[in-house]
Amino acid sequence: MPDVKARASLETGPPTNLKTRRGFLKAAARAAAGGLAAYLPPGCAAPGTGPGLGPGLESSGIAPTLTQVSGPRSLRAHAAEHGLLVGCAVNPDKLDGEPDYASTVADQANIVVPENALKWAALRPTPSQFDFRKADDVVVFAFSHQQKVRGHNLCWHEALPAWFRTTVTRDNAAQLLTEHIRTVAGRYAGKLHSWDVVNEAIDVKSARPDGLRDSPWLELIGPGYLELAFRTAREADGTALLTYNDYGIELDTPEQIDKRGQVMMLVRRLQARGVPIDAVGVQSHLSAGDAPGAGLLHFVRELHDMRLQVFITELDVNDRKLPDSVPERDAAVAKTYRDYLTMMLAEPNVNVALTWGITGRYTWLNGPKYARADGKPERPLPFDYDYNPTPAFFAERDAIDSRRRTALPGANPYAPFSPSGGSPQSQEKRSALDFDRGSDRKSGVVRNLASSVSV
Ligand code: XIL
Repeated sequence: MPDVKARASLETGPPTNLKTRRGFLKAAARAAAGGLAAYLPPGCAAPGTGPGLGPGLESSGIAPTLTQVSGPRSLRAHAAEHGLLVGCAVNPDKLDGEPDYASTVADQANIVVPENALKWAALRPTPSQFDFRKADDVVVFAFSHQQKVRGHNLCWHEALPAWFRTTVTRDNAAQLLTEHIRTVAGRYAGKLHSWDVVNEAIDVKSARPDGLRDSPWLELIGPGYLELAFRTAREADGTALLTYNDYGIELDTPEQIDKRGQVMMLVRRLQARGVPIDAVGVQSHLSAGDAPGAGLLHFVRELHDMRLQVFITELDVNDRKLPDSVPERDAAVAKTYRDYLTMMLAEPNVNVALTWGITGRYTWLNGPKYARADGKPERPLPFDYDYNPTPAFFAERDAIDSRRRTALPGANPYAPFSPSGGSPQSQEKRSALDFDRGSDRKSGVVRNLASSVSV
């Protein structure tokens, strides 16, 4: 932090050109030093701040200003006080191109995850090439704001490149998966908080006794692909927390109870075989009105007994079944945030919570599959379409504050991973150097990242 502040305080020249990488990083550094408020005269509201958006503020007619949600009042600052990691999925193009987006992420998150940039389809233009440019952008942004990074993901049945179907066979699939994991996890070795090693491998509808999803990986390699993926990830990166990540395991509906049970059996099987696994990611794509309860709590506690952490990896709350009344939608979404996060963050092995995005402007829930029938943007995240904090923001912040004392670091056997070896500043320097040294000798896409961080 000190070096970023120092850099930011030296910025006295003309307004930053945010279209350039240099300008973007300068602006991002400013945001890290002072939050969004750093852009504004004292007392000014956020760009686009509209009336009636914060609980308690609505009735008074006073809109929440940036000072009420940024800097020391940000999610990030509150999380730090409680030893928690909170953050969001990010899009490198928006970090680069949209100042409000970049500054909100910098201000609110102490952990980020690339939403798509580390998926196969993004990294693998051809069978022999890796393109790390977008993923590296996220890592450079995060490190320049003292944020940790999750990796998502190394093995999934979706987001496979077009060439996959015609190129990958039973004969070469295991080798291809191994090479991919070695290269990708190896590139970021020692730098990431955690990796989603395998994503969404359970599907009760596939109707197999082992619960495994009928996926290309299962078909081409067999059930051993999970073990192969985890073992290869551990060899490639000895410090990232290796995670199995899945959705539809939060509620106590018959289907989700069933799936949660299958996930538990999978994790038990992996552990019994000595497979390196450190955490289970509960994606947490919820709907307004959902009330996860006893079943999930039992699951989290069982995982605790197995010495596993639980990460909330992709929280968002869709409002597509609710009528178009913003206060009504916001209240229902915020209640789900409050109830869910308060319950989960009371558990000592739940130290990490990420939302799947930061603003309703770019949520995947506005995409064709999940959009509201009336075409209105959903309000599933801590900030709305115009970067106003939503009631869900305040619900999340309250839930962070409700973290019970016994869950504070020290009392907690599974405290969040923190890379050894010095201050965030030295970590940032080391990362830039390592990237430089790596500069992609093997890949077709060569890029010197050190220049990107020299703001
Ligand atoms: C989604 C992204 O948000 C979209 O932008 C993309 O088009 C499809 O994937 N579970 C996951 C995430 O693990 O990777 C998915 O992300 C959302 C569901």
